[in-house]
Amino acid sequence: MDKELVLVIDFGGQYNQLVARRVRECDVYCEIYSYKTPLDKIKAMNPKGIILTGGPSSCYEEGAATCSSELFELGVPVLGLCYGAQLMSHVLGGKVERAANREYGKTDITLDTTSALFGGAAGLANADILQSMPAETTCWMSHFDYISKLAPGFKSVAHTDSTPVAAMENVERGLYGIQFHPEVLHTPEGSKMLFNFVRGICGCSGDWRMDTFVEDTIKNIRAKVGNGKVLLALSGGVDSSVAAGLLSRAIGKQLTCVFVDHGLLRKNEGDEVEAVFGEGGQFDLNFIRVNAQERYYGKLAGVSEPERKRKIIGEEFIRVFEEEAKKIGAVDFLAQGTIYPDVVESGLGGESAVIKSHHNVGGLPDFVDFKEIIEPLRDLFKDEVRKAGLQLGIPERLVFRQPFPGPGLGIRIIGEVTAEKVVIVQDADYIYREEVDKAIAEYKAANDGKEPAWMPNQYYAALTNMRSVGVMGDERTYDYAVALRAVKTIDFMTAEAAQIPFEVLQTVMSRIINEVRGVNRVFYDLTSKPPGTIEME
Ligand code: XMP
Repeated sequence: MDKELVLVIDFGGQYNQLVARRVRECDVYCEIYSYKTPLDKIKAMNPKGIILTGGPSSCYEEGAATCSSELFELGVPVLGLCYGAQLMSHVLGGKVERAANREYGKTDITLDTTSALFGGAAGLANADILQSMPAETTCWMSHFDYISKLAPGFKSVAHTDSTPVAAMENVERGLYGIQFHPEVLHTPEGSKMLFNFVRGICGCSGDWRMDTFVEDTIKNIRAKVGNGKVLLALSGGVDSSVAAGLLSRAIGKQLTCVFVDHGLLRKNEGDEVEAVFGEGGQFDLNFIRVNAQERYYGKLAGVSEPERKRKIIGEEFIRVFEEEAKKIGAVDFLAQGTIYPDVVESGLGGESAVIKSHHNVGGLPDFVDFKEIIEPLRDLFKDEVRKAGLQLGIPERLVFRQPFPGPGLGIRIIGEVTAEKVVIVQDADYIYREEVDKAIAEYKAANDGKEPAWMPNQYYAALTNMRSVGVMGDERTYDYAVALRAVKTIDFMTAEAAQIPFEVLQTVMSRIINEVRGVNRVFYDLTSKPPGTIEME
């Protein structure tokens, strides 16, 4: 597929994936590459535009991340963001210096709205699509260094009280710089600025759309797989479900999905996955459900150390999958639901430190007899995977499922896992999610579809390993305490407790105590991350 491409050149800043996501939201395809990528490779990719990201360096220091001045002579528009803007100035003959004080946080800014970045149309062929914005607005600043002297040919097109060059342009050369961060939500007009750059200044037509992605991917899978057989480990999570949907539409029964029910799924989840992908469901494929609950509970008996539990659950998954794969025999392809952040975070895309080595299905490739890996979602961000899922007709409750860890309830039951505890946590968690979902729906219905400020990004009930004394009727009880967790987070690296309304928590508490046997106390977890983690173990 020959689609228009914008390159996001990564200088190691924290918002770089967000920059790429915002560009994709403008229906423009982009990829993240390290600043070390050779110029020849950049040229060969024939980009329609280039964005230089933020980064932690000071461009005037020895050994700082840099780029060649030739990057600005390719005849392709370039937009520098924060460090990227400073570097552009520095390389092209301006001056960057350390300011007396760091400028950080939401900042009032004045924009020159004659600049195409800010919706002014002077001289642009496709000026009619530019999005306009007010001259006085706010932006998100985070910098020590500032551009103290513009490079020749540039003019300043925005300023704040302490930053004379908050944005700059050299229209003749198609070069633009923004000192603040248009990619974050704290810059309310930021998405429009990025739109104006990629769609207006770079002239991208907006050919990156999920309906065409789905059609093209189905064609590509058919061409690649031919008559071959494909095996996929289906977890019921968003990524593997969408991968299964795409593969099924492309090659039907040449696809076999193995779904391992490890007995640590949420209430009814195994049956829900089977209803969508199993016999009588909407997809044509071979679906194998392995009910391995007893095996897992056996392996986990007596084990309470969190990492040991994780390891057992991961290893057992490989054993079970390997046995099923042996029954099927050699396959041509092993499919994985790898998505773009996995690629970037494993160090293959940008400049970000390797955060986690990527093993989407826990080392499966070493244990299955196959010729090649196939990863149909490798280019997509999570929100794009969801859109593709909707295109494929996968039910919304699956597509918008909140993140659920691979080891499942195994790490939401503190201490030893037993079949009895699994039922308790499943029932408590079901009630909690039901009540929170109901409260969210009611809020939306009363507020024109707007989400509540307390809308959590992940919420679940866990079973603490603590038992305490209570009284029920006239009898003394000695039962477990359930902990409720709900967090607000963007990147899951930091999080804070969501302020679920107290009435909702009270309803949940009384339902859990009344409906779930073995529980006599309910706690709400207020801990942020850090110092806590989102999961309990
Ligand atoms: P933590 O607990 O590290 O969670 O703050 C951050 C995000 O990662 C998920 N998580 C896991 N996902 N296997 C997974 O597939 C795991 O072992 C695991 N541990 C945590 C967690 O649900 C949250 O979204």
